[in-house]
Amino acid sequence: MEGSRLELSVVTENKAKGVEALSILAGLGVKARLVLMGKQEIQSESLEEIALHAARVAYATLRKPLLVDDSGLFIEALNGFPGPYSSYVYKKIGVRGILKLMSGEVNRRACFKTAVATIIPPLEKVYTGETCGEITLEPRGEHGFGFDPIFIPENSKRTYAEMTLEEKNRISHRYKAYKKMVEDLKTKYKTI
Ligand code: IMP
Repeated sequence: MEGSRLELSVVTENKAKGVEALSILAGLGVKARLVLMGKQEIQSESLEEIALHAARVAYATLRKPLLVDDSGLFIEALNGFPGPYSSYVYKKIGVRGILKLMSGEVNRRACFKTAVATIIPPLEKVYTGETCGEITLEPRGEHGFGFDPIFIPENSKRTYAEMTLEEKNRISHRYKAYKKMVEDLKTKYKTI
């Protein structure tokens, strides 16, 4: 990779997540493109394991430097649920289902976590990021995707869905993981 500029393929089946990832990477000065591809998820309690497995499967097809990110919402009062099962739970019960599970619950604390697995031969590496905050009583906001309308990050009064993409990308769990990744890659590749 020395000499030529590294281009990362962001592999995901979720277009909204991919668009967000590209925007973060552009802000961090990294050349990237979106590859929409079905994700092979293993069942695991670990976002890192899930992301790395999916990245290896994607690399077997793509054979180009890539990243896969796996994220989840960990709600304290639900013992970390839906966590690594966030994608399944979102599809089955959505934000309304989570609010129902949280009905009457005073402890609203939750954290979004991201694990981003990169495969840039010969290296494989996983970086993590976390942003904590609270689950709202009602969905609020039109931006973003997934659980954005019910999550208020710390030090904010607005949900992720009430923020612009740029605002979310300054503080999000995903931004923190990608920033660590880019800082690390910059120590390895002069031309990133
Ligand atoms: P994935 O497996 O990383 O695609 O994400 C799991 C689920 O968590 C997705 O279906 C989304 O509903 C949710 N999710 C992941 N990242 C975010 C985020 O940044 N905001 C809101 N929901 C998210």
